[in-house]
Amino acid sequence: MIYINEDSLAIVLQDYSESKGWFKSDEQITSIAKAGEGNMNVVLRVTTNLRSIIVKQSRPFVQKYQNIPAPIERIAVEHTFYKSIQNSSINHYTPNIFGFDPESFILVMEDLGDCDDMSFIYQDRTISDQHFNKLITIISGIHGTLPPSDFPDNIKMRELNHQHIFILPFLTDNGFSLDDIQPGLQQLSMPYKEDVILKRQVTSIGEKYLSNGQTLLHGDYYPGSWMSKNDSLYIIDPEFGFIGFPEFDLGVMAAHLIMATDDSSFIERIEKTYPKPIDIELLKKIAGIEIMRRLIGLAQLPLNRTLAEKTLLLQMSKNMILS
Ligand SMILES: Nc1ncnc2c1ncn2[C@@H]1O[C@H](COP(=O)(O)OP(=O)(O)OP(=O)(O)O)[C@@H](O)[C@H]1O
Ligand SMILES: [Mg+2]
Repeated sequence: MIYINEDSLAIVLQDYSESKGWFKSDEQITSIAKAGEGNMNVVLRVTTNLRSIIVKQSRPFVQKYQNIPAPIERIAVEHTFYKSIQNSSINHYTPNIFGFDPESFILVMEDLGDCDDMSFIYQDRTISDQHFNKLITIISGIHGTLPPSDFPDNIKMRELNHQHIFILPFLTDNGFSLDDIQPGLQQLSMPYKEDVILKRQVTSIGEKYLSNGQTLLHGDYYPGSWMSKNDSLYIIDPEFGFIGFPEFDLGVMAAHLIMATDDSSFIERIEKTYPKPIDIELLKKIAGIEIMRRLIGLAQLPLNRTLAEKTLLLQMSKNMILS
């Protein structure tokens, strides 16, 4: 078992990569750096004399908050997901996989290069038609991919996510003060945290999230997993993937487009553009819950909005959940 981080010695990583057969005979590491902003895992950009690659390692905890445990097998889920996609029509939208070491929980993949994740849409407050259409093409391609019959149930990651989506945001006392994010946000959140009918609906959708479905899902289909470079778009970070219901990915996507743009017609646009029939009411509920949990939960976004703007978004999301 090898542990890597951005201060890893090139010589150690060189020996390790050679021993795994990942390097060509004359390949030499020239630099190691953090690949980008992430919380959960160690993600490095390793440059050699021949190319640049991404090396990602999971740990039994959240890398940035090491007191929070997290299932270490998540990197194997990511690996199986990418492998499943590699035979599908949308394989050019995910990085190529160069190597996987299940013993050290290390995945080696193609460096997509100088990309930005699409969190910029929260500032731009808009998304191009081209990007929107590509996001639908990719997610329908993922959903249309036949996963191997032994695709991991990823239940521990789902349980972690379930806490953060369906449980903790709706607890009146979760040890997290929203006023630290924005003064007044705690008070704004209280009617939702105390709404029994709303919470009953959220609980029921949460149970559905934990049950098994039939469709390969990305599991975290939001701007942090969308990488764009000019007109190109790539999808990364499928560590929350599982076999579930398509409205989960689509609802999460809708939520982030609505938060970015304030335009709830993205629900209908998704329904119209996605090539298969979907349960629009279920999609709406997922989207509503995702909007609400991103505003009053722990996993906050780089979304600078006034309390007045958040008030409107929260009302909209409640209507979506109860519709
Ligand atoms: N294949 C890649 N090519 C280029 N850059 C990448 C690649 N994979 C990851 N990155 C960069 O590294 C960052 C972190 O990667 P990733 O999202 O996979 O890590 P993570 O630890 O799972 O993050 P999070 O905590 O958000 O779940 C990305 O936002 C991106 O900037
Ligand atoms: Mg991740």
